[in-house]
Amino acid sequence: MKNYTFLNIFLLAAHFITAQTTIPIEASNQAIVLQTDAEGHLLMVYCGKPLARKEEYASVYGNYHMKDEDVMGLFNSAYPFAGTLCPIEPAIQAMHGDGNGALDLKYVKHETKALDAHSSLTTILLRDPVYPFEVTLFYKVWKAENVIEQWSEIRHSESKAVVLKKFASANLYLTDKDFYLTTFHGSWASEMQPDETKLSPGMFAVDSKLGTRAELLQSHDFMVAFGQPATENDGEVMLGQLEWSGSFKLEFNVDTYHNLRLMGGVNPYASEYALAPGEVFKTPALLYTFSHHGKGEASRNLHNWARDYRLLDGRGERLTLLNNWEATFFNFNEEKLTALFKDAHTLGVDMFLLDDGWFGNKYPRNDDHAGLGDWQENVQKLPHGLGYLVKAAQKENVKFGVWIEPEMVNPKSELYEKHTDWVIRDPQRPDHYFRNQLVLDLSNPKVQDFVFKIVDSLFIKYPDLAFIKWDCNSPILNAYSAYLNTQKKPQTHLLIEYVRGLYNVLQRVRAKYPKTPMMLCSGGGGRTDYELLRYFTEFWPSDDTNPLERIYMQWNYSLFFPSIAVDNHVTDWGKQPIKYRVDVASMGKLGFDIVAGKLSAPDFAFCQQAIQNYNSFKDVVWHGDLYRLVDPFKNTQASLMYVDKNKSRAVMFSYLVSNRFMINPRENPVRLAGLDAAKTYRVKELNLYPGAKPSMDESKTYSGDFLMTVGINPELTQERMSIVLEITDVK
Ligand code: DGJ
Repeated sequence: MKNYTFLNIFLLAAHFITAQTTIPIEASNQAIVLQTDAEGHLLMVYCGKPLARKEEYASVYGNYHMKDEDVMGLFNSAYPFAGTLCPIEPAIQAMHGDGNGALDLKYVKHETKALDAHSSLTTILLRDPVYPFEVTLFYKVWKAENVIEQWSEIRHSESKAVVLKKFASANLYLTDKDFYLTTFHGSWASEMQPDETKLSPGMFAVDSKLGTRAELLQSHDFMVAFGQPATENDGEVMLGQLEWSGSFKLEFNVDTYHNLRLMGGVNPYASEYALAPGEVFKTPALLYTFSHHGKGEASRNLHNWARDYRLLDGRGERLTLLNNWEATFFNFNEEKLTALFKDAHTLGVDMFLLDDGWFGNKYPRNDDHAGLGDWQENVQKLPHGLGYLVKAAQKENVKFGVWIEPEMVNPKSELYEKHTDWVIRDPQRPDHYFRNQLVLDLSNPKVQDFVFKIVDSLFIKYPDLAFIKWDCNSPILNAYSAYLNTQKKPQTHLLIEYVRGLYNVLQRVRAKYPKTPMMLCSGGGGRTDYELLRYFTEFWPSDDTNPLERIYMQWNYSLFFPSIAVDNHVTDWGKQPIKYRVDVASMGKLGFDIVAGKLSAPDFAFCQQAIQNYNSFKDVVWHGDLYRLVDPFKNTQASLMYVDKNKSRAVMFSYLVSNRFMINPRENPVRLAGLDAAKTYRVKELNLYPGAKPSMDESKTYSGDFLMTVGINPELTQERMSIVLEITDVK
């Protein structure tokens, strides 16, 4: 007992003798505070509302139940390391050149600097006292948006390579009574299905081992609600994403103190990395935002951030389009396509998008078994080439865009015959196909060149090409690279080098073609990360375009992505009336994938009118603030609205999501949000089907206060399953 007291006094003294460093990392509504302990280890001691008096951050630590009586005092390490002091789940695990597997990381120095008027960067250097091994932690903060990106850089100057066995981007240590985690799962045509779970002590992990099309089964988006399940407008919520386009791993570890250790990074699975002396291993970033007012505000944080700082041309315009995928599949020719151009024109969309099937001659791309890799126009279907189509579309006053899947190859292709060594495949085993195709080896600079040139040649040959849809349908199977072998690099680098190679190609594309809009597609929503969205203007969330399913799916995507990034097409999926399909697709970037000529006259007239309406309010949907008003997961209806930044115009979408006779649609008015209480607004129904009458008296005006306190009733019925309302202030 005596000894114990003495030890405590000693530790306390050491605590004060060693100059303690406190590092607050502040956004406008959230602060993360890191602090060194007596031995110079870096701990995460706070994550919560910023304090008015900065000097008080130094005193936060003592008020939590964190103890420093033994080595377990490192349980809240800012970046846990493996093999020495604290046997908790590490963020980093490495084997030194001499075979020793132990790491210790101590604080050396830090700095915070403003990058521009909106963002700052805090860097913290940690070093092993025994080995010349360093980790730098990065925290980039966009203050107004409350958005943080956190990543690490690992380097060493040992004489031999150090093998990295785990290399997380970020680690956070979060305190609360309970943690409710929402993760998203799915498969082809059922992407982004949420699952909320109350975390118990132990480890919960979400990961992908797929290499490409990495989100086919699990998404790298997550939401943590603190103390209570997430609600739209109340409570503390964190939304996050690992910004990596390959295999990833997110770990949620509630520890014995009932605190949450949250870690994210490249999946170390099959990816041990031999780091050469002097080489810098930069991890992808973990992106997150916090809100103290529910998930609605957290989403708006991410939307604002994405539009202003990440998504390519996030503040710009988008092209409405007619796509031929579901209209023709592989079965088309010049005549069919030019007829569709006319449809595009009469419908009133901006562009025609030619999908899969336009290429391959020795092995024509007439189905998904052949042709991928041979990017020359098929002379049977398109004897006059793409140039002819670009011009024919222009004659109809519509732009022309084209589909490619440049990272892939069919074994039935000239590319495969000529460059089998460019393909990811294990020469010792039989090829194993996913959608009858294989993945090209983007770790190989020659393959990167090839992929870049696919895009470059298209733009060189057809400078008026207005749009590219970049697809990616296969994960990486039989992961083996002939190239890495020739470079004497470990095969376990492949999944990482692949993604780096992809980013290299896209950097080259964007250096030469900075603005041309490109859609990120991956057999549906298999790729939607914000690292790739630096290069893309939008993404394709799913091949499931059934509008009822889409209401739920778009709802979930809207947690993380602004609507300007989300491509929604009207197709023949689902039995709902055309109005319902168009209304749902209008909550994002609107497109059509139908044979418009086959629509009935009133349906066609409705679409024409709806596109004009869309053009009149698209700015609000693309650049305004989103408020999710009625949750379809809990109600028989869904309601959402977008409000422009001046609060002078809004569009509200409401849908009936149940057709059960016994369940009436919600009868109460829906309370609007985001308006100016003092302003006066007029409400007008848009997208009325020919012959239909508006459900409300459009001559009436309402105060913002009334609309947000009492609300309006969209009056959904089985006959009026979707309603679009425009809310405009009366000057
Ligand atoms: C998968 C995409 O998700 C579809 O939209 C379509 O482009 C097909 N690929 C074409 O093969």
